[in-house]
Amino acid sequence: MSPAHTSPSCLYHCSFFVLCFLSLLSGIQSDELLILMKLKSALQVTKTNVFESWEPTTSPCNFTGIACNSVGSVAEIELSYQKLSGILPLDSICQLQSLAKLSLGFNLLYGPVMEDLKNCAKLEYLDLGNNFFSGAVPDISSLSQLRYLHLNNSGFSGNFPWKSLQNMTGLVRLSLGDNPFNPSPIPTEVVQLTKLDWLYLSKCSIQGTIPAGIGSLTELINLDLSNNYMNGEIPTEIGNLINLRQLELYNNNFTGKLPVGLRSLTKLEMFDASMNSLEGDLSELRFLNNLMSLQLFENNLSGQVPAELGDFKKLVNLSLYSNSLTGPLPQKLGSWAQFNVIDVSANFLNGPIPPNMCKQGTMTMLLMLDNIFTGEIPTTYANCSTLIRFRVNHNLLSGTVPSGIWGLPNLNIIDITSNNIKGRITSDIKNAKALGQLFVGNNWLSGELPQEISGATSLVSIQLNDNQFSGNIPPGIGDLKHLNILNLQNNKFSGSIPETLGTCASLSDINMANNSLSGEIPSSLGSLPNLTPLNLKNNQLSDRIPQSFSTFAGKFFLDLSYNGLTGPIPQALADHGYFAGNPGLCLLDISAGVPSCENPYISPLLIHIQCRPLHY
Ligand SMILES: *[C@@H]1O[C@H](CO)[C@@H](O)[C@H](O)[C@H]1NC(C)=O
Ligand SMILES: *[C@@H]1O[C@H](CO)[C@@H](O)[C@H](O)[C@H]1NC(C)=O
Ligand SMILES: *[C@@H]1O[C@H](CO)[C@@H](O)[C@H](O)[C@H]1NC(C)=O
Ligand SMILES: *[C@@H]1O[C@H](CO)[C@@H](O)[C@H](O)[C@H]1NC(C)=O
Ligand SMILES: *[C@@H]1O[C@H](CO)[C@@H](O)[C@H](O)[C@H]1NC(C)=O
Ligand SMILES: *[C@@H]1O[C@H](CO)[C@@H](O)[C@H](O)[C@H]1NC(C)=O
Ligand SMILES: *[C@@H]1O[C@H](CO)[C@@H](O)[C@H](O)[C@H]1NC(C)=O
Ligand SMILES: *[C@@H]1O[C@H](CO)[C@@H](O)[C@H](O)[C@H]1NC(C)=O
Repeated sequence: MSPAHTSPSCLYHCSFFVLCFLSLLSGIQSDELLILMKLKSALQVTKTNVFESWEPTTSPCNFTGIACNSVGSVAEIELSYQKLSGILPLDSICQLQSLAKLSLGFNLLYGPVMEDLKNCAKLEYLDLGNNFFSGAVPDISSLSQLRYLHLNNSGFSGNFPWKSLQNMTGLVRLSLGDNPFNPSPIPTEVVQLTKLDWLYLSKCSIQGTIPAGIGSLTELINLDLSNNYMNGEIPTEIGNLINLRQLELYNNNFTGKLPVGLRSLTKLEMFDASMNSLEGDLSELRFLNNLMSLQLFENNLSGQVPAELGDFKKLVNLSLYSNSLTGPLPQKLGSWAQFNVIDVSANFLNGPIPPNMCKQGTMTMLLMLDNIFTGEIPTTYANCSTLIRFRVNHNLLSGTVPSGIWGLPNLNIIDITSNNIKGRITSDIKNAKALGQLFVGNNWLSGELPQEISGATSLVSIQLNDNQFSGNIPPGIGDLKHLNILNLQNNKFSGSIPETLGTCASLSDINMANNSLSGEIPSSLGSLPNLTPLNLKNNQLSDRIPQSFSTFAGKFFLDLSYNGLTGPIPQALADHGYFAGNPGLCLLDISAGVPSCENPYISPLLIHIQCRPLHY
């Protein structure tokens, strides 16, 4: 190696020399430079190198992410979102005498947060949130100047040092959520922080009740106590928090009614008290006409949906499912803003479906299943091209499905099961390119299934059972390569079963029982590897059972009973299917050397297979 080549050790000494030289120029700056160089060497950077400008020859005030005060001391370290990893050297950082802001959120920092944090006594802004620390948060009672404290989602555990908050009287934001702290109630130290506008305590093991003292935090804009172990009633004092825009109480064990006084929170835009045990009615909500999102699902709320909700000009999301609500929905509901989601499923709501929720052309989910809605599906949804889920099953709806609905381009699911709906599935279903689930069972639908269904190429499940469909099963169904379930039972389909079905390799459940199908059973069905069950009971199918069926013996539930089948039952199937009511069938006897077909078939006991879970 040439002597001219600078060795790493020389580089170190040279830098050190420069440091010493700089320190002659300015004592403070060189101390701070050393501290920052320690920070730089303690942390690894995975992508863009924020430390590129951090060179001993540069003034620390010129480092990327560093800001100095008027006398040239380091006052701010802003290194959030830099993919920094390593153990934070707070022992050195907190020697920076003027440090007022330490912002390290959204990095990959790990290990403990050292006790030395207490020496950062001038801090007004501390963000260590969204990292991978471990262990407890140390005592920070000396940080009495803090205005912003973000420690959320950073892996902290143990007891949070609540006492440390006692003298942080200027605290504006307190964000401790998403850390597995030891269980603790909301301590008095928190409700004395009267300057708070942001209190984020979601998912950090808060237990007990909301203290009445919460009413002192009148500056609060956002209060989030969701995902904890809280119980008791929501105190009426919550009504003092008239600046609230967001109130998140979901997934706790709150009981009692929506408190009197909630009506005062007229600036509220987001309210979520879902997944609790709240009861009583919604009348306190009548005045909250700035609500954009109202979520109260999975409670025990009763009474009517207040008519005033129909006039809320900003409402875009409404989720009230799984309660005991009664009466009609306001008919103007969702007609003002860019309405997005309604889920009022599993209640006792009646009356018509509000017609104008897709007025602005933005609605994605209409979920109203398991109620007692009446009237027709409004034609206004026929061009709601943004719709992804349309579920009105298990109601008392009548009339026809407005034809455009069958062809909506983004719809994943149409579910009108168990209503009194009549009419046809129209040919525009060919445009339903996203449709995976077509659930229309148990209605009064009639006519032929249009050949154009073959254009709905995303279909996975077709359930047309218990209707009045007639005519042929269109052979184009064979083009539906994702088709898994085909339930056509209890209709008036006639003609033969299309041979093409054998090319739908994913088919696992075919039920065509109780129709008027005739002709041969296509042998192609025997080549479907996952088919179980296959139910063709009670049709007029004739000829022989295809030999190809024997390969699946033992794998599938086969019911060919009550048809006009003839000839021998493939031997392998004799114990694996139901063949009663086919006088022409026989069991093959090969014992005599020359096969004979004389033994009549005696059917075993028929078993019923049913039950599929419900998802909204
Ligand atoms: C810091 O940056 C300023 C402006 O870019 C420049 O004038 C000054 O020389 C730099 N100081 C040092 C010590 O690098
Ligand atoms: C969580 O902390 C980040 C900073 O790390 C902050 O920007 C964010 O607002 C905090 N989230 C909540 C909900 O308080
Ligand atoms: C808050 O300040 C008071 C008065 O200065 C002091 O006695 C108390 O110890 C401080 N609390 C904490 C937790 O440091
Ligand atoms: C709610 O309380 C019940 C018993 O009262 C308990 O089993 C359940 O875990 C609690 N749920 C939550 C989210 O705290
Ligand atoms: C409404 O719900 C959608 C879909 O869940 C969500 O993306 C959107 O942010 C919500 N809007 C409001 C205001 O909560
Ligand atoms: C819901 O409220 C009814 C009375 O309105 C009560 O009988 C029932 O036990 C409650 N259910 C739950 C889960 O709290
Ligand atoms: C549906 O059609 C009506 C009448 O032509 C129109 O006013 C409305 O904006 C359309 N909606 C969407 C979502 O395209
Ligand atoms: C066929 O109809 C009979 C009589 O109505 C009924 O008991 C049976 O459940 C139906 N089969 C299927 C698979 O739906």
